[in-house]
Amino acid sequence: MTDTTVTDTPAPDIPAPDTGTGYGRKLSSHDARLTEVGPGTPMGEALRRYWHPIARSAGLVAGDRPHRARLLGENLVAFRDGQGRPGVVFERCSHRGSSLSYGRIEEDGIRCCYHGWKFDVQGHCLEQACEPDGGRRRNLARQPWYPVEERYGLVFVYMGPPESKPELPRFDCLEPLGEGESYHTDWLAPDAEVLGMEQDFNWLQIYENAVDPVHASWLHSHHSGFQFQGTGTTGFPESYYDPTTVADRVTYHRTDLGVKYVQSYRDRPVGGGETVDLDWAVELQLPNILALPDFIRVAPDSRHDMLIWVVPVDDTHHRLVFSIRSADPERAASFVFGIKQNGKNNWEMTEEERHRFPGDYEAQRSQGDITQHSEETLAPSDRGVVMLRRMLRTMVDDVEAGRTPLGVTNPDGGLRSVASGVFTRTAPAAGV
Ligand code: FES
Ligand SMILES: [Fe+2]
Repeated sequence: MTDTTVTDTPAPDIPAPDTGTGYGRKLSSHDARLTEVGPGTPMGEALRRYWHPIARSAGLVAGDRPHRARLLGENLVAFRDGQGRPGVVFERCSHRGSSLSYGRIEEDGIRCCYHGWKFDVQGHCLEQACEPDGGRRRNLARQPWYPVEERYGLVFVYMGPPESKPELPRFDCLEPLGEGESYHTDWLAPDAEVLGMEQDFNWLQIYENAVDPVHASWLHSHHSGFQFQGTGTTGFPESYYDPTTVADRVTYHRTDLGVKYVQSYRDRPVGGGETVDLDWAVELQLPNILALPDFIRVAPDSRHDMLIWVVPVDDTHHRLVFSIRSADPERAASFVFGIKQNGKNNWEMTEEERHRFPGDYEAQRSQGDITQHSEETLAPSDRGVVMLRRMLRTMVDDVEAGRTPLGVTNPDGGLRSVASGVFTRTAPAAGV
């Protein structure tokens, strides 16, 4: 029988429940102003003030078939007419809506498969095959189109207000071409030959990753093994990755066109000799350009040679497009295949291997279709991410307020300076 006698013995201490459980949390959310890119959204409107690469020049073959190319939430087709002119038009035919991706390319335009309407690269209707006289009122039909220009082996498209169209920017790292050099733009991977490498998560997750150097000191080294091919031979010494010192070895800087980080480390020069202090510098130029040094064959103090564009396909997909200026055909291959996971390319891995040796894709994709900003706990080492977001917010604010956002107008002389590379340090670095 239970003793129910009341005594004045104090009750034992019952600890208060720890309320940090997952129960009852508010619904999470993403920052739409930073991430969503469709027509009429704040970021979508801001991104539409800039040129974006939509295809490789070599991938659009004159007179060949059109390619579906979704960009900023709009369904488009990219093609090159028989005269060699690149064109980008809406995918949906302005007659009754068939996809122009099934169209036929002719000398002067693209012809819809359904009733044979033909449009030139600026959407003018040249012929309506099933109408008398090729369509007496064909001049009233116009296929929505966007301006395109080619540079650096890529086809760029401008999807913004026609009256605000800026010059296509030029960069000192990509021109002029040196002797024997050409532009390398091919991912050398399945399904990425024409339009670039598509990934199935929001564009900002990978763009932010580019200004988050400390993740290399964990993910790419201490968690999954050294994933940069060439480490210890032509790449980086292990001290580059040291997570206990990396926070002190990285500084973040605002540049004229974006944000840059500099990571200091020590290494022997290629070919041997005394250890020197080096600065590894990565610059991001708004809104979505990334300049990453060669992480396979580190060549201090040489001219930077590549740019990457993180191009939003829609809110939950993006494409990576790059151009490398090089005389060495292996340069692009080493970039594409340079980050191995347990010796494999990412697209060759099993799910089991992905969990044992995660890389950039696993870390960024698993943040979600769009990361949930309401759930984040930012720390001092996220400083670059915070700086980038602040600049992107300013860009969005500027466009909303009718001001010209950063990086739309070209500097005097036209060439933009890119501040990426590996540099021999002459002054002592903090933390090294
Ligand atoms: S739907 Fe394209 S021509 Fe009719
Ligand atoms: Fe990475």
